Amino acid sequence: MESQIRHRLVLIPPPFQGHITPMLQLATILHSKGFSITIAHTHFNSPDPSNYPNFNFIPFFDALSNTQISSKNFIDITSTLNTKCVSSLKELLIHEITKLTHEKIVCIIYDGLLYFIDSLAKELKLPSIVFRTTSATNLLTYHACAELQSKGYLPLQDSKSCDLVPELNLLRFKDLPIFNSTNPDDFLQNITKTLSITPLGVSLEDSSLNQLQHLYKISLFPIGPLHMIANDPNNNSNKTLQESHNCISWLNNQARNSVLYVSLGSIASWEEKELTEVAGGLSNSRQKFLWVIRPETVNDVSAWSESLSEDVKEGMAARGCVVKWAPQNEVLAHEAVGGFWSHCGWNSTLESLCEGVPIICQPYFGDQRVNARLLSHVWKVGLEWCNVIEKDEIERVVRRLMVDQEGEEMRQRAMKLKHVIGQAVTGSSSDSLNGLVKCILSVNI
Ligand code: UDX
Repeated sequence: MESQIRHRLVLIPPPFQGHITPMLQLATILHSKGFSITIAHTHFNSPDPSNYPNFNFIPFFDALSNTQISSKNFIDITSTLNTKCVSSLKELLIHEITKLTHEKIVCIIYDGLLYFIDSLAKELKLPSIVFRTTSATNLLTYHACAELQSKGYLPLQDSKSCDLVPELNLLRFKDLPIFNSTNPDDFLQNITKTLSITPLGVSLEDSSLNQLQHLYKISLFPIGPLHMIANDPNNNSNKTLQESHNCISWLNNQARNSVLYVSLGSIASWEEKELTEVAGGLSNSRQKFLWVIRPETVNDVSAWSESLSEDVKEGMAARGCVVKWAPQNEVLAHEAVGGFWSHCGWNSTLESLCEGVPIICQPYFGDQRVNARLLSHVWKVGLEWCNVIEKDEIERVVRRLMVDQEGEEMRQRAMKLKHVIGQAVTGSSSDSLNGLVKCILSVNI
């Protein structure tokens, strides 16, 4: 950097693993480009500073009640952060600005969920950039939702409708990332800002990116998949859950492409009754499986395991490996893994695509439905199924992916996509990253 004064970036993630992880990956990448890094974060679900000795971590008061924290309600938490954290974050940022002597905060990079930071940054006269942790196609749906709202279609009469949304071509009404309580205006606020970056499945989303650019005339810096660029082993670590590396030794003893990896990310979960059906379906499929059951999913895992029927217990013991939290990137990269049963969070989607692993799509909420549609309908590396959590249905869908020709063809397509993504990382994504660095410096020099 030319200036004597060092350039510091403040990055602000919301307290969700699926958002913290890519934000820390971006921070790692920008640090390697010479920027000093501060991470401003909530007390709830705070990242572990010991994994990032080069970063400065500063917590701000998040105004979340214990009930909100234990409920893990995504919408409720996001809404509280946007309405009740303005003054605590403002105070913190002013303190940071005044205490720096040989450094200058050159830009705030905040997650698109925290849209209140837009006006705060303006008030503090700091340039800001919105960081998007979802697909470009998902961003386009916000535009469509605004259109639908202006035409009086929202709230949707039939949220399970398979009719195509006219503005979106490939997506059906049932794929829209609409929460009943969501005001699309909130989501739209930031999209019209001049700068935005997204960890996109780069070349896989060219058409959506072009449409976004055309609609909003914004500068987009499609960089990613970030975990491939950041190459940081700590990125997926979960402060509260010990990662199980035993599962890698278990995978080492399994045949190539023989294992189904089952995980619903950090928020979605099955109810106890569904869990029993999943155990039955996995066991009856007679396929090997590595299954993440986060502790909060079930009150007492041992009591639940004991309650399973003898044949399911036997199937689990003979063919399954159950962990609380897996080193997901390492798991997906393992040659024994031939399929992923996923909720289709954007991180899991990208991580799977990068390793050429096809997916059984079981989306829960928000962008997961859009990602599932992209996987199954556009890239054709995902199985859309009825999502009925019933053991016979599960047995069938698992065998479709792991045993049938249909699954084998998906695995082959997924390997081709892996190659395409690998090329984009060193090509268009790398150009975007350089463009982003130039852009941050140009608004400040
Ligand atoms: C949330 C939203 O739900 C998702 O829709 C949005 O796209 C991002 O934010 P989450 O549900 O946690 O994320 O899913 P996902 O995006 O897949 O992120 C989960 C992360 O946790 C992934 O990076 C995954 O590698 C990691 N993980 C999950 C592990 O490292 N180990 C596990 O056992 C489970």
